[in-house]
Amino acid sequence: MKINHKVIVFLLLLISSAIHAQTKLNQQGEALIDNLISQMTVNEKLGQLAQMRWSWGDSPQAAATQKLYKERVKQGTLGSFLGVHGVALTCELQRIAVEESRLKIPLLFAQDVIHGWRTIFPVPLAEAASWNPDLVGQSARVAAVEATSAGIHWTFAPMVDISRDPRWGRITEGSGEDPFLGSAMATARVKGFQGDDISAGNTLLACAKHFCAYGAAEGGRDYNIADMSLQTLFGIYLPPFKAAVDAGVETFMGAFNEVNGVPMHANDFLINKVLHQQWGFSGLLISDFTAVMELQRHGIAATPEDAGVLALNAGVDIDMESDIYAGELASAVTDNRVSEKVLNNAVARVLRLKYKLGLFDDPYRYHNLEREKENILTNEHRQVARNVARESIVLLKNDNHLLPLSKTIKNITVVGALAADNDAPLGAWRGQGRKEDVITVLQGIKEALPGARIGYEAAYDLPEFKNQDDIKDRIQKSVPETDVFILVLGETARMTGEASNRSSIELPGEQNKLAQILKRTGKPLVILLMNGRPLALSQIAHEMPVIVECWFLGVEMGHAVADVLFGDFNPSGKLPATFPRVTGQIPIYYNHKNTGRPPVEDDFFRSKYLDVPWTPQFPFGYGLGYSSFDISAPVPEKQVIHSGDKIVVSVHVKNTGKYDGQEVVQLYLRDEVRSITPPVKQLVAFNKIFLKSGESRSIQFVIQPDNLKFYDSNLNYKSEPGWFTIYSGADSENLKSSRFQLVN
Ligand code: BGC
Repeated sequence: MKINHKVIVFLLLLISSAIHAQTKLNQQGEALIDNLISQMTVNEKLGQLAQMRWSWGDSPQAAATQKLYKERVKQGTLGSFLGVHGVALTCELQRIAVEESRLKIPLLFAQDVIHGWRTIFPVPLAEAASWNPDLVGQSARVAAVEATSAGIHWTFAPMVDISRDPRWGRITEGSGEDPFLGSAMATARVKGFQGDDISAGNTLLACAKHFCAYGAAEGGRDYNIADMSLQTLFGIYLPPFKAAVDAGVETFMGAFNEVNGVPMHANDFLINKVLHQQWGFSGLLISDFTAVMELQRHGIAATPEDAGVLALNAGVDIDMESDIYAGELASAVTDNRVSEKVLNNAVARVLRLKYKLGLFDDPYRYHNLEREKENILTNEHRQVARNVARESIVLLKNDNHLLPLSKTIKNITVVGALAADNDAPLGAWRGQGRKEDVITVLQGIKEALPGARIGYEAAYDLPEFKNQDDIKDRIQKSVPETDVFILVLGETARMTGEASNRSSIELPGEQNKLAQILKRTGKPLVILLMNGRPLALSQIAHEMPVIVECWFLGVEMGHAVADVLFGDFNPSGKLPATFPRVTGQIPIYYNHKNTGRPPVEDDFFRSKYLDVPWTPQFPFGYGLGYSSFDISAPVPEKQVIHSGDKIVVSVHVKNTGKYDGQEVVQLYLRDEVRSITPPVKQLVAFNKIFLKSGESRSIQFVIQPDNLKFYDSNLNYKSEPGWFTIYSGADSENLKSSRFQLVN
């Protein structure tokens, strides 16, 4: 559907914009900034908009770059660095800025602190599986404390990109497929990084990235184009970004991709009109790495100067690593291709961040050697990491209640090189995480059962996952001395993350074969999965009795897994993204449209496949525990509500099993009839509650007026009168329902 952007902008602006934490400074701060800007040359201004990656090492080339950058800091033509850390170095660079440059403007130091700095937490997708925003906020808080101790001011996180395509390697960095869960996680992480007071000295500037639709890369190939209706863009991909703005996020980062033909680094509509004007975001947007330069490759700019002009005018305030603003734009300013106003606005946004951090008062406040030593990998931080890790584990199958295993077991054989691997648990973007800090799965099991015999067979080589030639015999030999086999399968860390896309998300190598070998021994078998994305598990899902999704859980991985295996922790994670049966089902997601021919068994001419069922292997929101819960149908407080009303919905929950434990009670909504086809359901609320065995509780959810709204064909955000079905349950498929009506 083609809609005139001018019409959209008009409609969007009708919605009043909110006041957010990024708004202007106090009078004194604004005066200081105005004063500085009035003294700056064009080159100094463009310098504030330049960010370069620090060049580490002592090769002649690195040394030359370091010298050049120090000189630029002195000249005032470089305002921030990426990838520099450590108190000694950051302090040295800061000293040059504030003591040797003309205007003494402090530097900003940025880094990707994605799931921990030295204490590495579960990868973000795994954390989202906890469905526990408080805990995820604590993880971000610890990361902020550690990273700021190492001289860092600004993290390029959270990544809030929705993805419906697990082939995409960066799905590991986000919160999965759902805008509501994604928004909850975005809010928690922004607040965790930034704390209550951004000037506290141990809080990091957060950055909502990648704006926007980066997770919709065609074919799951990173950097590829995104092409979608504006309804899908606004309804599915943008909500977590809006949530980040509402949570007070100070910065944004642009996405490498184009959206509907316009690269995001030239997208005046989405950055200036939607993000700034409609949403009221007055913070800063930084480019992604060399993305300004890439505008030429996109075929939208003829020269580097054109690329810079497009980007700065579109609202890209800082140019990361292309060095086009500082290198090419001075004459564009003279020629008024970039107005003084646009330039000054961008500079003011940079200076405001520096002011808010307190750097004009004390530029050295992040450079404390003692703090750097004390705040890293403390026992307390490890404990938080263990708490988050065990809540991120999702129990997919537990036939005959084999788990939890008894601690009196005498003989366990652990199979699979991932079990002893201290690299995979760190996942992608591991900050300063070190392999030697990782408790492996094997180590965790040994520590939990000091009196037992724990055998180990690597079974396959990494990273190919090729089975050892004699593995069948070796497994057979270990059978008499084994009470339970624990088989660890999955991916290496390098199989997810930036540019790490897979065309097939089945278990790599010969792992399915290995599972069969273990199964044929007839011994009890537990499969643990370690991976950074949803996997297609049809080859094991049916036959293997016990499957636990453990993801990449960070430095406390082994402890967390053992806590769950031996019943010290009752698993409560839920999938944040659909697990298909086979790769060919992608895109597959729970909040899909019904179509005119929804699949049914006994009608050929329906929307299905010849070779696999249309349903997923494991649906969104799914996960078992050691207990069982009875969740009632939702009871709305009224049958009829009026537009603008909220509605309270009660759900009764009972722990009917013999273990105390947590359950994530989920509430979904279906708008039965509306002018743009509705999804079959969409998550509108959830609540993770703890109930003792036998205990029951009634919980109340509030459905807000916004939960009933959608973007119509003119991009009006509105609700339409009619019937709504509400569903409650423990995952997106196992649901009970009731209805209410919305009247005008
Ligand atoms: C990634 C960003 C990251 C940046 C800086 C880019 O390649 O896309 O997510 O923040 O590098 O490291």
